[in-house]
Amino acid sequence: MVALASIALALLAVFHSHVSAQNLKDLANAKGRYFGGAFDLIEISNNANVNLLKQHVSMTTPENAMKWDATEPNPNQFVFGNADKTVAFAKANGIVVRGHTLVWHSQLPSWVTGGKWNNQTLTAAMTNHITKVMTHFKGQLVHWDVCNEIFNDDGTLRTSVFSQFIGEAFVSIAFRTARQVDPSVKLFINDFNLDSTNAKSAAMVNLVRRLRSQGVPIDGIGSQAHLIVGGISPTFKQALNNFAALGVQVALTELDIRMTLPASTAKLQQQQKDYQAVVSACMTIANCVGVEIWSMSDKFSWIPGVFQGQGAALPFDENFQKKAAFTGIVSALNGASTKAAFPNVGVKAAAGNNLIAQKTVTKTVKKTTTRTRTKTRAGAIQIGHP
Ligand code: XIL
Repeated sequence: MVALASIALALLAVFHSHVSAQNLKDLANAKGRYFGGAFDLIEISNNANVNLLKQHVSMTTPENAMKWDATEPNPNQFVFGNADKTVAFAKANGIVVRGHTLVWHSQLPSWVTGGKWNNQTLTAAMTNHITKVMTHFKGQLVHWDVCNEIFNDDGTLRTSVFSQFIGEAFVSIAFRTARQVDPSVKLFINDFNLDSTNAKSAAMVNLVRRLRSQGVPIDGIGSQAHLIVGGISPTFKQALNNFAALGVQVALTELDIRMTLPASTAKLQQQQKDYQAVVSACMTIANCVGVEIWSMSDKFSWIPGVFQGQGAALPFDENFQKKAAFTGIVSALNGASTKAAFPNVGVKAAAGNNLIAQKTVTKTVKKTTTRTRTKTRAGAIQIGHP
């Protein structure tokens, strides 16, 4: 009887580990990383999509709800309803949140883009925006994209209302303000086309190195990774490595890999390889703390609306079914890796603000695997800068 029971238990354990091995967040977590999936509110009104988020995601980002046009549509009038709903959903489901984004040239209200500014008045409006938005979410988020897309592809500073009136100084002012408002959150600079050792990623390396040497609190570099099937650069990983070498955290923040529609088996197989390559790159860089896809399913992807004739960019299809790309991600998460220091996000988050300092986690990870497990299971999602 006892023997039978223990065989049954053993079988159950095998079955359970097999099932949970398919959860992207658990696989990532076992390697000290998060797996993320972004959403807009419409995406959590869909049960199938909610199930995907619950099953696979330990990090999320509101696709639009925390942007300037959404949070401060009129001067000094703040609106947080949709962003709050995002955070509430995340909390209820043990998911931590990246704030996105405080200072960006796009999705600005017209009072900002069309304002009659000078250096002083725009600096005041920008720091007020950062202060009010970050104060509202203080202690509730793990990352903030403080500045988004500040570079042109040739590595020069993009022309925006901020660079025009404040100059490059808007970047350091934004980060210093952010650190002061909420010292518990990791501060990221985020951009696209950082997917090879190109002029833009070189400019990112130079700027972040220079600003950090001046004491500007940049904790992480986000590479959006909006990619094209068959087009992953052989220097994709080197570019990420160059960021990591600065001693900052690195993350793939908005991953999707689009193709020209209609999808075909050959394109979907290539997409599987591409997802595997890109996620593997992160897995083998100790400072690369996680990967987030920009929506879960092709049903809700932003791609077809913006890139005409393109789509099928995500690992789940329009019917929320796994594509070959999903297997590519699983292979990468199970494959060669260097343990990262991102804590056990997602496991205890639902219980509330179970934060421990990043320093503690890093220390723990350096000890034995067993110790790490015990520590993370016992408690904690992270997050605070050292
Ligand atoms: C996109 C959203 O997904 C869309 O819903 C919206 O219409 C436009 O913005 N880089 C970013 C994201 O930093 O904020 C963008 O998100 C995609 C590109």
